[in-house]
Amino acid sequence: MPEDRDLAEDFDLKRLPDSFYVDPYPTYRALRRHAPVKRMADGSVFLSRYADVVAVYKDSATFSSDKREEFGPKYGASPLLEHHTTSLVFNDPPLHTRVRRLIAGALTPRHIAAMERRLVERVDTLLDVIAARAPGAEVDLITSFASAIPVEIIGNLLAVPDEERAPLRDWSLAILGALEPTLTSEQLEHGNRAVREFLLYLEGLVERRRAEPGDPDVDVLTRLIAGEGGEMLSAPELLHNCIFLLNAGHETTTNLIGNGLACLLDWPDEKARLRDDPGLARTAVEEVLRFESSNQLGNRITTRACEIAGVALAPRTQVTIGIGAANRDPESFADPDRLDISRSPNRHVAFGSGIHQCVGMGLARLEGRVAITRFLARFPDYRLAAPAVRARRARFRGHARLLAVVDPLPSTTTTTPQETPK
Ligand code: HEM
Repeated sequence: MPEDRDLAEDFDLKRLPDSFYVDPYPTYRALRRHAPVKRMADGSVFLSRYADVVAVYKDSATFSSDKREEFGPKYGASPLLEHHTTSLVFNDPPLHTRVRRLIAGALTPRHIAAMERRLVERVDTLLDVIAARAPGAEVDLITSFASAIPVEIIGNLLAVPDEERAPLRDWSLAILGALEPTLTSEQLEHGNRAVREFLLYLEGLVERRRAEPGDPDVDVLTRLIAGEGGEMLSAPELLHNCIFLLNAGHETTTNLIGNGLACLLDWPDEKARLRDDPGLARTAVEEVLRFESSNQLGNRITTRACEIAGVALAPRTQVTIGIGAANRDPESFADPDRLDISRSPNRHVAFGSGIHQCVGMGLARLEGRVAITRFLARFPDYRLAAPAVRARRARFRGHARLLAVVDPLPSTTTTTPQETPK
């Protein structure tokens, strides 16, 4: 299709049209067809095919996560530069391995299962507050529901006192927002201020936790402070990886819940299936992750000359991994633009793959499952009160606002919300 060719030809992550933020999928389709290894004006490439994306994830020796070269010019000498280049996700071994081991030890399936009871209580409390509104009242499902869940869960993980959690969301949005392909000076300033304030806050928290350690089995901060096998993190490594952890589990999971509730409205038959059979919750969450991947982009840099799909790449070439594009690749997913909540197999790459694969994916899946199924059980007829407003972000796909009207079921049927399916 000529239009397709134009879309692929014109594509540049640093010059995205407004329509891309609303619906990037026609562009991704055009890229997969006509320019699967798309060279952009700055010399970097964008990958859109599933097989290429997986190959890059698996070869961490050739495709490094070290971002010093990319972020140096982007941020200059600044708190954002120090933060992003010290986080485990933007580092190669050995720093990556040390930090990852400490975090992963507190996020095993056993630990995650132990978090479920508090999570269900938190979700039900939020649903009670929504239900108590006047009938027909409009509610923003992002601020009143989706974003209120991860901030609690991740706050619990580092045992941040309840009354100190309020600024976490804004810090996180500002810091992750600075990862967008292009930035205004205001976004930069906002991101740098957020890192400074976050560091100041965490220094105090770490001091208190050193004086009074928590249970290292469940408290990630206590684990990170203690280190392992005699190996400790330096002070900046400790602080920046706490910031990263608080950020990593926040916007992404908010988007999973918001995208899930929005997708089900677009696909009413799938919504009815899930409502009638909550046992589909697991595959439904996987399908939302594939269909509207919360995290759409990843980044690597080549450490040597190599080739992807016949295209030669010089050493130090920046590679953008199109997660959202790969997850709609018809070579890997039948009828990829259709939401099928029982899709199986569903080997999406929403959590990445290889040595950096998301450490928090078990937790994110649990949050998505509990939030979406309990919301649906309580408000099966929820509907939008205004068109959904997408956040203008290319990297993190979610909503700025999801204004809905929710009418609870008549009180006789609401007393016992459905059990969370296992
Ligand atoms: C729907 C929710 C989530 C999505 C879509 C998501 C996605 C991702 C992706 C794609 C990566 C790989 C980055 C790369 O390879 O460059 C990643 C890494 C990571 N995620 Fe998540 N994530 C989610 C939730 C969480 C949660 C809840 C936590 C924490 C509890 C978390 C913690 C991390 C950490 C620590 C890493 C770095 C792992 C490493 O570098 O080895 N994420 N995530």
